Amino acid sequence: MSEKQLKPKSPAISETIKTEVVCPNDTNPMGILQGGRLVQWMDIAAAVCAQTHADGICVTASIDTVRFYYSAKVGEILTIRAKITRAFTTSMEIMVEASVRNVFDNTPRPLAHAYFTFVAIDDQAQKRAVPAVAVSNKEDERNFNEAGIRRQNATQ
Ligand SMILES: CC(C)(COP(=O)(O)OP(=O)(O)OC[C@H]1O[C@@H](n2cnc3c(N)ncnc32)[C@H](O)[C@@H]1OP(=O)(O)O)[C@@H](O)C(=O)NCCC(=O)NCCS
Repeated sequence: MSEKQLKPKSPAISETIKTEVVCPNDTNPMGILQGGRLVQWMDIAAAVCAQTHADGICVTASIDTVRFYYSAKVGEILTIRAKITRAFTTSMEIMVEASVRNVFDNTPRPLAHAYFTFVAIDDQAQKRAVPAVAVSNKEDERNFNEAGIRRQNATQ
Protein backbone atom coordinates (compact mmCIF):
# COMPACT_ATOMS: atom_id res chain seq x y z
CA MET A 1 0.00 0.00 0.00
CA SER A 2 1.40 3.40 -0.97
CA GLU A 3 2.16 6.15 1.57
CA LYS A 4 -0.61 8.25 0.04
CA GLN A 5 -3.19 5.52 0.71
CA LEU A 6 -2.04 5.27 4.37
CA LYS A 7 -2.43 9.00 5.03
CA PRO A 8 -4.83 9.51 8.01
CA LYS A 9 -8.40 10.05 6.84
CA SER A 10 -11.32 11.89 8.42
CA PRO A 11 -14.33 9.72 9.44
CA ALA A 12 -16.47 12.09 7.35
CA ILE A 13 -14.91 10.71 4.15
CA SER A 14 -16.23 7.18 4.70
CA GLU A 15 -19.45 7.93 6.62
CA THR A 16 -22.19 5.89 4.98
CA ILE A 17 -25.97 6.32 5.06
CA LYS A 18 -28.21 3.47 3.84
CA THR A 19 -31.98 3.77 3.48
CA GLU A 20 -34.38 0.81 3.43
CA VAL A 21 -38.17 0.45 3.48
CA VAL A 22 -39.51 -2.46 5.53
CA CYS A 23 -41.32 -4.85 3.13
CA PRO A 24 -43.46 -7.89 4.04
CA ASN A 25 -40.58 -10.22 3.10
CA ASP A 26 -38.41 -8.58 5.81
CA THR A 27 -40.78 -9.29 8.68
CA ASN A 28 -41.90 -12.03 11.05
CA PRO A 29 -45.55 -13.24 11.10
CA MET A 30 -46.45 -10.24 13.32
CA GLY A 31 -45.33 -7.81 10.59
CA ILE A 32 -42.28 -6.73 12.60
CA LEU A 33 -38.85 -6.37 10.99
CA GLN A 34 -36.68 -9.45 11.63
CA GLY A 35 -33.57 -8.73 13.70
CA GLY A 36 -31.37 -10.77 11.35
CA ARG A 37 -32.46 -8.73 8.32
CA LEU A 38 -31.65 -5.51 10.17
CA VAL A 39 -28.19 -6.82 11.14
CA GLN A 40 -27.58 -7.77 7.47
CA TRP A 41 -28.38 -4.20 6.37
CA MET A 42 -26.20 -2.80 9.17
CA ASP A 43 -23.33 -5.09 8.07
CA ILE A 44 -23.60 -3.83 4.47
CA ALA A 45 -23.52 -0.17 5.56
CA ALA A 46 -20.55 -0.91 7.86
CA ALA A 47 -18.70 -2.78 5.08
CA VAL A 48 -19.13 0.13 2.66
CA CYS A 49 -17.80 2.48 5.33
CA ALA A 50 -14.78 0.26 6.19
CA GLN A 51 -13.94 -0.40 2.53
CA THR A 52 -14.12 3.31 1.71
CA HIS A 53 -11.74 4.09 4.59
CA ALA A 54 -9.39 1.23 3.66
CA ASP A 55 -9.64 1.72 -0.14
CA GLY A 56 -10.13 -2.01 -0.61
CA ILE A 57 -11.83 -5.23 0.42
CA CYS A 58 -12.57 -5.77 4.15
CA VAL A 59 -14.13 -8.70 6.00
CA THR A 60 -16.30 -8.63 9.11
CA ALA A 61 -14.22 -9.89 12.05
CA SER A 62 -16.83 -9.33 14.78
CA ILE A 63 -20.08 -7.66 15.74
CA ASP A 64 -20.53 -6.69 19.38
CA THR A 65 -23.86 -6.73 21.21
CA VAL A 66 -26.66 -5.49 18.95
CA ARG A 67 -29.21 -3.53 20.94
CA PHE A 68 -32.73 -3.30 19.50
CA TYR A 69 -34.64 -0.34 20.99
CA TYR A 70 -37.82 -0.39 18.95
CA SER A 71 -39.83 -2.55 16.51
CA ALA A 72 -40.08 -1.45 12.88
CA LYS A 73 -43.20 -2.32 10.92
CA VAL A 74 -44.06 -2.83 7.24
CA GLY A 75 -43.89 0.45 5.32
CA GLU A 76 -41.61 2.21 7.80
CA ILE A 77 -38.40 3.82 6.57
CA LEU A 78 -35.02 2.90 8.04
CA THR A 79 -31.91 5.06 8.02
CA ILE A 80 -28.68 3.24 8.83
CA ARG A 81 -25.61 5.35 9.56
CA ALA A 82 -22.14 3.79 9.64
CA LYS A 83 -19.11 5.75 10.79
CA ILE A 84 -15.55 4.69 11.55
CA THR A 85 -14.49 5.39 15.13
CA ARG A 86 -10.89 4.19 15.00
CA ALA A 87 -8.44 2.27 12.85
CA PHE A 88 -5.87 0.07 14.59
CA THR A 89 -3.26 -1.75 12.45
CA THR A 90 -5.26 -3.91 10.03
CA SER A 91 -8.66 -3.56 11.72
CA MET A 92 -11.23 -0.80 12.03
CA GLU A 93 -14.14 -0.28 14.41
CA ILE A 94 -17.33 0.95 12.72
CA MET A 95 -20.21 2.38 14.75
CA VAL A 96 -23.61 1.64 13.24
CA GLU A 97 -26.85 3.33 14.29
CA ALA A 98 -30.25 2.57 12.79
CA SER A 99 -33.33 4.74 13.18
CA VAL A 100 -36.88 4.36 11.87
CA ARG A 101 -39.64 6.76 10.86
CA ASN A 102 -43.00 6.50 9.19
CA VAL A 103 -44.26 8.66 6.37
CA PHE A 104 -46.99 10.22 8.52
CA ASP A 105 -44.99 11.93 11.27
CA ASN A 106 -41.43 11.66 9.95
CA THR A 107 -40.05 11.68 13.50
CA PRO A 108 -37.03 9.36 13.62
CA ARG A 109 -36.86 6.89 16.52
CA PRO A 110 -33.67 5.03 17.50
CA LEU A 111 -33.98 1.40 16.37
CA ALA A 112 -30.65 -0.34 16.95
CA HIS A 113 -26.97 0.23 17.66
CA ALA A 114 -23.82 -1.91 17.33
CA TYR A 115 -20.07 -1.79 16.78
CA PHE A 116 -18.61 -3.84 13.93
CA THR A 117 -14.93 -4.70 13.47
CA PHE A 118 -13.58 -5.14 9.94
CA VAL A 119 -10.16 -6.32 8.79
CA ALA A 120 -8.69 -5.13 5.48
CA ILE A 121 -7.35 -7.80 3.14
CA ASP A 122 -5.32 -7.69 -0.07
CA ASP A 123 -5.88 -9.63 -3.29
CA GLN A 124 -4.20 -12.69 -1.71
CA ALA A 125 -6.68 -12.51 1.23
CA GLN A 126 -3.83 -11.45 3.53
CA LYS A 127 -4.38 -8.80 6.21
CA ARG A 128 -3.04 -5.38 5.32
CA ALA A 129 -2.50 -2.06 7.10
CA VAL A 130 -5.19 0.62 6.97
CA PRO A 131 -4.98 4.42 7.25
CA ALA A 132 -5.35 5.92 10.74
CA VAL A 133 -8.40 7.99 11.59
CA ALA A 134 -7.82 11.76 11.68
CA VAL A 135 -10.09 13.31 14.31
CA SER A 136 -11.04 16.95 13.96
CA ASN A 137 -14.03 17.47 16.25
CA LYS A 138 -15.24 16.53 19.74
CA GLU A 139 -17.61 13.75 18.60
CA ASP A 140 -14.90 12.01 16.55
CA GLU A 141 -12.42 12.42 19.40
CA ARG A 142 -14.84 10.84 21.89
CA ASN A 143 -15.58 7.95 19.49
CA PHE A 144 -11.84 7.45 18.94
CA ASN A 145 -11.03 7.35 22.67
CA GLU A 146 -13.96 5.05 23.51
CA ALA A 147 -12.95 2.65 20.72
CA GLY A 148 -9.52 2.42 22.33
CA ILE A 149 -11.09 1.51 25.68
CA ARG A 150 -13.33 -1.14 24.04
CA ARG A 151 -10.29 -2.65 22.26
CA GLN A 152 -8.32 -2.67 25.51
CA ASN A 153 -11.20 -4.34 27.39
CA ALA A 154 -11.63 -6.95 24.61
CA THR A 155 -7.98 -7.94 24.70
CA GLN A 156 -7.62 -8.12 28.50
C1 LIG B 1 -10.91 -11.56 10.52
C2 LIG B 1 -9.65 -12.33 10.12
C3 LIG B 1 -9.10 -11.71 8.80
C4 LIG B 1 -8.61 -12.13 11.22
O1 LIG B 1 -7.49 -12.87 10.83
P1 LIG B 1 -6.42 -13.40 11.92
O2 LIG B 1 -5.28 -13.99 11.19
O3 LIG B 1 -7.14 -14.19 12.94
O4 LIG B 1 -5.99 -12.01 12.44
P2 LIG B 1 -5.25 -11.53 13.75
O5 LIG B 1 -5.54 -12.30 14.97
O6 LIG B 1 -3.81 -11.32 13.37
O7 LIG B 1 -5.97 -10.11 13.85
C5 LIG B 1 -5.94 -9.16 12.80
C6 LIG B 1 -6.65 -7.93 13.29
O8 LIG B 1 -8.03 -8.23 13.45
C7 LIG B 1 -8.42 -8.01 14.80
N1 LIG B 1 -9.36 -9.09 15.14
C8 LIG B 1 -9.22 -10.41 14.87
N2 LIG B 1 -10.29 -11.08 15.33
C9 LIG B 1 -11.11 -10.15 15.90
C10 LIG B 1 -12.37 -10.22 16.55
N3 LIG B 1 -13.03 -11.36 16.71
N4 LIG B 1 -12.92 -9.08 17.01
C11 LIG B 1 -12.29 -7.89 16.84
N5 LIG B 1 -11.09 -7.76 16.22
C12 LIG B 1 -10.52 -8.89 15.76
C13 LIG B 1 -7.14 -8.09 15.60
O9 LIG B 1 -7.24 -7.38 16.82
C14 LIG B 1 -6.14 -7.46 14.65
O10 LIG B 1 -6.29 -6.05 14.65
P3 LIG B 1 -5.05 -5.04 14.34
O11 LIG B 1 -4.24 -5.63 13.21
O12 LIG B 1 -5.71 -3.80 13.91
O13 LIG B 1 -4.30 -4.93 15.61
C15 LIG B 1 -9.91 -13.85 9.91
O14 LIG B 1 -10.24 -14.43 11.15
C16 LIG B 1 -11.00 -14.11 8.91
O15 LIG B 1 -10.77 -14.05 7.70
N6 LIG B 1 -12.23 -14.38 9.41
C17 LIG B 1 -13.36 -14.63 8.51
C18 LIG B 1 -13.95 -13.30 8.07
C19 LIG B 1 -15.24 -13.49 7.35
O16 LIG B 1 -15.38 -14.39 6.53
N7 LIG B 1 -16.24 -12.63 7.65
C20 LIG B 1 -17.56 -12.77 7.17
C21 LIG B 1 -17.73 -12.42 5.76
S1 LIG B 1 -17.19 -10.81 5.32
